[in-house]
Amino acid sequence: MQNHPLPLKDAFQGCLRLGATLSVSTLNGEDTVSEAIARHHFDAFTAENSMKPVNLQPREGKFTFAQADRLLEIATQCEAIVVGHALVWHQQTPQWFFVDESGEKARRDVVLQRMRHHISNVVGRYRGRVQEWDVLNEVISDKSDEFLRPNVWLDATGEEYIAEAFRAAHAADPHAVLIYNDYDIESGQKHEKTLRFLKSLLDANVPIHAVGIQGHWDLEDPTLATIERAIQNFAALGLKVKITELDVSVLPGRHEADLAALQGYEEKLDPFKHILPDAIAERQARRYSELFSLFLKYRETIDRVTLWGVHDGSSWLNNFPIHGRTNYPLLFDRKGQPKAAFHALRQLGAEKENTFIEHPAVSSRRVASAVA
Ligand code: GLA
Repeated sequence: MQNHPLPLKDAFQGCLRLGATLSVSTLNGEDTVSEAIARHHFDAFTAENSMKPVNLQPREGKFTFAQADRLLEIATQCEAIVVGHALVWHQQTPQWFFVDESGEKARRDVVLQRMRHHISNVVGRYRGRVQEWDVLNEVISDKSDEFLRPNVWLDATGEEYIAEAFRAAHAADPHAVLIYNDYDIESGQKHEKTLRFLKSLLDANVPIHAVGIQGHWDLEDPTLATIERAIQNFAALGLKVKITELDVSVLPGRHEADLAALQGYEEKLDPFKHILPDAIAERQARRYSELFSLFLKYRETIDRVTLWGVHDGSSWLNNFPIHGRTNYPLLFDRKGQPKAAFHALRQLGAEKENTFIEHPAVSSRRVASAVA
């Protein structure tokens, strides 16, 4: 590829797969800049939207696989792995899953059967070719007085859909790595609830292999110590950890709640409309470098870090939690050029041999299994 440095994925080879999402416009051939960057620098691909239920089965029994097939084609050509995202979620799932012919709430067994059918068709089609699946997305509640998030699935089936989703995925591809994926699960009460939730699945022998920490973070929050403790706690359950949707926002207001506090200071909400100041770019580069140092330290537990997007111009964070801001969360700028954060990671990759400290819970398990 012209004008581009050596592939960033090479800097982490043997330690981490470096992932990116491919958007609908990339998969339709309209965003050739993103496609070229993805092919050159990344070796794990997730569909940003194309493999969500609303895209794969918009009407009952009418599967639309063209974009997902294209993602697999690109991945095969550049020897990348594919992460299927996401089988069961309360968003981007068509209404038909939950209603009967007369538009009334469908029976519990009907909804469960539709879910199993969706999973077995989708996972079955890509058996052996999609190596990891985000089976279940975002079921833990953000509210302190609530455990599970009330959602359409819970309403339709009770808690049964949770274990059933993993069982159906495992039956369709026994070798695929099955992931529970969520945001903000590294800190506070949501972390504690997630540990409880995962433990209950493992105790019930539900086939779950990894937890996906989404990683929609900013320049300071969460702290490295918080993330490290979460990785240790998840690893101690015997699960792998994937960083599944990493981006580092440079704007205020990572959570909607933060925005209320900024009311009356609207000019502060979108401070870098025209350019990212060098000082902020450098700060972001340091943050990326610190995060990846931590991930490399736990490379026995974390084998993939996926960025949610390819370049700043197409990031969802330009429109969330406020529409129409100018954010700079990724490694490439709006012209597809590598940023300071990219160069920091390249540097870190070159020095990576010094950063490996194995987690004690992982090494003791390995000793135990070697002895057994
Ligand atoms: C969540 C989902 C992703 C994506 C992002 C925002 O994290 O898991 O699929 O929709 O939100 O773009």
